[in-house]
Amino acid sequence: MKKVITYGTYDLLHEGHINLLRRAKALGDYLIVGVTNDSFDRERGKLNVRNNVMERVERVKATGFVDQIVIEDYIGQKIDDIIKYDVDIFAIGSDWEGKFDYLKEYCKVVYLPRTEGISSTMLRSENETVVNIGVVGCGRIAKRLVAETSKVDAARVSALYDIVPTAAEALAKDKSLVCASFEELVERVDAVYIATPHLAHYDQAKYALEHHRHVLCETPMVLREEQAEELYRIAQANNLVLLEANKTAFCPAFNHLITLIKSGLIGDVVGIDASESKLWGEEKLKRELNPNEAGGSLYEMGSYPLLPILRLLGTEYEDVTLYSRLNDNGVDIYTRGIIRYRNAVASFQLGLGVKTEGNLIISGTKGYAYVPSPWWKTDYFELRYEDQNMNKKYFYKWDEPGLRYELQEFVSCIINKRYNSARMRQKESITMARIMQQFAQRKSVFEL
Ligand code: CTP
Repeated sequence: MKKVITYGTYDLLHEGHINLLRRAKALGDYLIVGVTNDSFDRERGKLNVRNNVMERVERVKATGFVDQIVIEDYIGQKIDDIIKYDVDIFAIGSDWEGKFDYLKEYCKVVYLPRTEGISSTMLRSENETVVNIGVVGCGRIAKRLVAETSKVDAARVSALYDIVPTAAEALAKDKSLVCASFEELVERVDAVYIATPHLAHYDQAKYALEHHRHVLCETPMVLREEQAEELYRIAQANNLVLLEANKTAFCPAFNHLITLIKSGLIGDVVGIDASESKLWGEEKLKRELNPNEAGGSLYEMGSYPLLPILRLLGTEYEDVTLYSRLNDNGVDIYTRGIIRYRNAVASFQLGLGVKTEGNLIISGTKGYAYVPSPWWKTDYFELRYEDQNMNKKYFYKWDEPGLRYELQEFVSCIINKRYNSARMRQKESITMARIMQQFAQRKSVFEL
């Protein structure tokens, strides 16, 4: 029996795929098809795949040419599969001509003619709902997000506004995208990305939501619990997406870490320690240390360590105690927080003018997770145990600047009418605001 194997994503299964599968089957007696899994596609930069792996498998099966399906989830699997299934022929479309010659050592390699004029990419763009996004606050972070829109098919920056017009002009592909006011920007778009200083977020998000625009708001979204609750209430009542743009929350590697821990790989989580610090000098940290712009280490960076803590231990803590060193302007250059839960405790350290090791450690009853600095751009972590033979290292790719994932989730929530993202839950965002508020009110805050 002659065995043939081929691989693909097979998104929005089309005539080109069907022709290829027919030709591949005709090369032998038994056809194995490797369908890429969702996370492997994301790692390869294919963020826009529409059908999930189960749907894609079902459609490939339904063509009737396939005898066996395998899921492809790592680089190098092709060689393993060819050996494991004793494959005679590897077949693939001619768009890959030459790319798989290295497999000739293991089996025959055949490049089949590709069907002209059709591809999944083409179909995706044909029936794509484009989300027109207006960017308000055209500084450092907005610049990065605008660059990332090229990675997300459905996202288009169609308006920009900044109180300094030249800042908006610098980011605009053409001048017609620059708006004269925030109100004009809201008028022109489906969704607003807010990247202004913290204190402007609440009014701008509220205005945009009240004018029926979806909102992606930089972190910290707001600094008061009732403001966060109010914004989510307005969003909910109007079927709008409101998402806090905490980049770590959407990062695939961070989410994999969370799913491994939730699956019990280190037992019950009993303690979490997370830190982040910047020692850039006062000149460079001017805005970050400005008391009139809600500067300080907790406001500036607090939502990052709070994310793994609230995701793993929940939002129902017993109490939070904060220890801060303030500078002459009353801004915290260092804050250490202790969050007490009934069965666990978490702590974090934040420094803007104090340096500390920026890692994340999650301690459990069976082992612990170690994520080295910069853990908020997770690309590597280890699960460690008493028996060191059980230790395992996990490696990923971090796609600088890492904002494509939040953007993808935002437009996907809008297109699919999902009003609560599992990546950044409303409850978590509200709790972050509650802790910021507690700090502002100096409740259980000890000055050092
Ligand atoms: N294929 C083909 N003819 C087409 C499109 C794809 O023969 N018009 C083949 C590819 O060469 C590959 C298989 O179908 O062997 C699966 O390819 P896949 O990447 O899933 O399909 P594309 O439509 O090319 O997807 P994309 O646009 O996302 O790259």
